[in-house]
Amino acid sequence: MAIYFMDGKFTNKDEIKISIEDRGYYFGDGVYEVVKVYSGKFFTEEEHINRLFESAKKIKMTMPYTKEQISSIIKELIVQNKLIEGHVYLQVTRGSATRQHHFPTPSVQPVVTAYTVEATRPILDMEKGVSVKSVEDVRWLRCDIKSLNLLGSVLAKEEAKDAGYAEALLHRDGIVTEGSSTNMFGVKDGVVYTHPVSNLILEGITRQVVLTLCGQLGIPVKEQAFMLAEAYEMDEFFYTSTTAEVMPITKIDDQLIGSGKRGRYTEKLQQAFTAQIPRLGSGING
Ligand code: PDD
Repeated sequence: MAIYFMDGKFTNKDEIKISIEDRGYYFGDGVYEVVKVYSGKFFTEEEHINRLFESAKKIKMTMPYTKEQISSIIKELIVQNKLIEGHVYLQVTRGSATRQHHFPTPSVQPVVTAYTVEATRPILDMEKGVSVKSVEDVRWLRCDIKSLNLLGSVLAKEEAKDAGYAEALLHRDGIVTEGSSTNMFGVKDGVVYTHPVSNLILEGITRQVVLTLCGQLGIPVKEQAFMLAEAYEMDEFFYTSTTAEVMPITKIDDQLIGSGKRGRYTEKLQQAFTAQIPRLGSGING
């Protein structure tokens, strides 16, 4: 039976009781992380844990555990669930209190829950590519926080899915920001373009990995905003996330991108990314 974590205990799902007054439930008042597990090992651990604590700080929430304790919780879940490939979901809400918008006084203990999900890499899509639908970005102005408040993303993804697309390509005033749960990249004349880090996007961990790989491969990068109209004209397009890795985009709306097939820079980055993935017996992260 799958093992879940809640507030200090590793237990099964039926034992977990979340209060009706949890602020995550009322307000989406909390933060979360999705971390990838390859060969039973926690990938880009430090980056994810640092971002979790940054997000908590940005919403003025004191984490109830240290970074080391969060790392131990995730590793214990991987071990107890015998997870080889998939991800761990972990969220922290501000806790449970009578419904009032302001923070509870006196303050209450934040609620931490986490569990594992078995999932294989989306290899087929990574070879063939996917299509995305442009959707207006109507989310709030603190998209840099990995907050539980995801209604803007949920509605955008649903609009894309409903129209038969894999992901929403969000644009604000015509400027491409990111995806509903991914970061977006275009390639033009051998240069990789992506929205700069700001309050308008989440600084994805996979985005950071890809930018480092670009540096190692000698691929020039411009972290600079571009318009949706320019996106259609890119030679290649792809998105990144913890679960999607480097995903080629072959069509935006009804416009084919480049040849309509996975581009060569995208493929190079996928290969370089794959080379970094922990393998069984590699000893990374124990
Ligand atoms: N989503 N942008 C947004 C809005 C996201 O929600 C995510 C991650 C990313 C990519 O970040 P990373 O490379 O660190 O996964 C960008 C996760 C996977 C989710 O909500 O399921």
